[in-house]
Amino acid sequence: MKFCDLHRQYIEYKKEIDAAIAGVIDKTAFINGPDIAELENELADFSGAKSAIACSSGSDAISLALMALDVQPGDEVLCPAFTFISTGTMISVVGAKPVFVDVDPVTFNLDPDKIGEKITAKTKGIIVVSLYGQCADFDRINDIARKHDLWVLEDGAQSFGAEYKGKRSCALTNIATTSFFPAKPLGCYGDGGAIFTADAEIADRIRMIRNHGQEKRYYHKMIGVNGRMDTLQAAIIRVKLKYFPNEIKERNRVAASYTDKLKNVVHTPLVLKNNLSVWAQYTIRVENRDKLRETLAKDDIPTAVHYPMPLSKQEAFKYLKQGIDFPVSNRLSETVISLPMHPFLSNEEIGFVSQKIKDAING
Ligand SMILES: Cc1ncc(COP(=O)(O)O)c(C=O)c1O
Repeated sequence: MKFCDLHRQYIEYKKEIDAAIAGVIDKTAFINGPDIAELENELADFSGAKSAIACSSGSDAISLALMALDVQPGDEVLCPAFTFISTGTMISVVGAKPVFVDVDPVTFNLDPDKIGEKITAKTKGIIVVSLYGQCADFDRINDIARKHDLWVLEDGAQSFGAEYKGKRSCALTNIATTSFFPAKPLGCYGDGGAIFTADAEIADRIRMIRNHGQEKRYYHKMIGVNGRMDTLQAAIIRVKLKYFPNEIKERNRVAASYTDKLKNVVHTPLVLKNNLSVWAQYTIRVENRDKLRETLAKDDIPTAVHYPMPLSKQEAFKYLKQGIDFPVSNRLSETVISLPMHPFLSNEEIGFVSQKIKDAING
């Protein structure tokens, strides 16, 4: 059994994916080929965002967005203490200061009640992660941001396709980013990402920064980077996007089945009313997490820990001297364990994993 079976998915769409790859090679349209603009239109349509800009990774998407928002050295940007590292490091990469906020114990997303105490005169915006595929509480967070004149960036690396009160992830905030890392709900065959915004001026700036700050060839209006997506990845994502709505349904089938079998055994994840998760991870909580992982590994059941250490404890962020008083993040990092999750997981496989967890927990 695989944690995320990308090979099964490839076999399912092989003909179309092979043809899409061959098409790019045949046209030698490797950089900024026609698939990039097509993908951008399709991503905007799918998400409901006005503009989508394809780029080189989910991490680069965050740094490109921060550059376009003109985040400067000395600025402060709030972000959750419990997330993947690049949510925080990209703030440092542009010279600003990440300010960690603890997360909600039920959804594991940024806790709106803890935002206010972290806002200072230097705060410019808030990066909000929609962790494991469930959107954060954007009505409340956007409200707080508006009152303090801050922007909100949704790091939707794990939530592309998710829904919040009838709208889709990446169309809920001033600006949003996602990742097409292969194991993400919508993944490519290498690195890739995208940025979403309704602000036409910001979208133009991102397009320029993504391509060396150039307005036309060899004329550079601003400092930029090479943050382009390669066309092969765009062609692959375009094929997968067609099947993505069905994959979201299948991910929800898998999650519902796990929850049904495990809800009286471990702490199963909760998706709030008005939310549709894309289940980037199906993450349970148990007291003796490492022992359970070892037991499951004996039956060749792969598991993962997202994440074993909050940002506030990472050596990379020691220089910030923000302490480690993030009780919910600390507790989660000790108890979370993610189970195999992908749209092709069979009911037998789900049953097998669930039974082994029951056996391990009940002794
Ligand atoms: C929450 C979050 N943010 C950012 C990223 C970075 O994406 P990428 O790996 O495409 O750079 C990831 C990917 O793991 C993520 O999960």
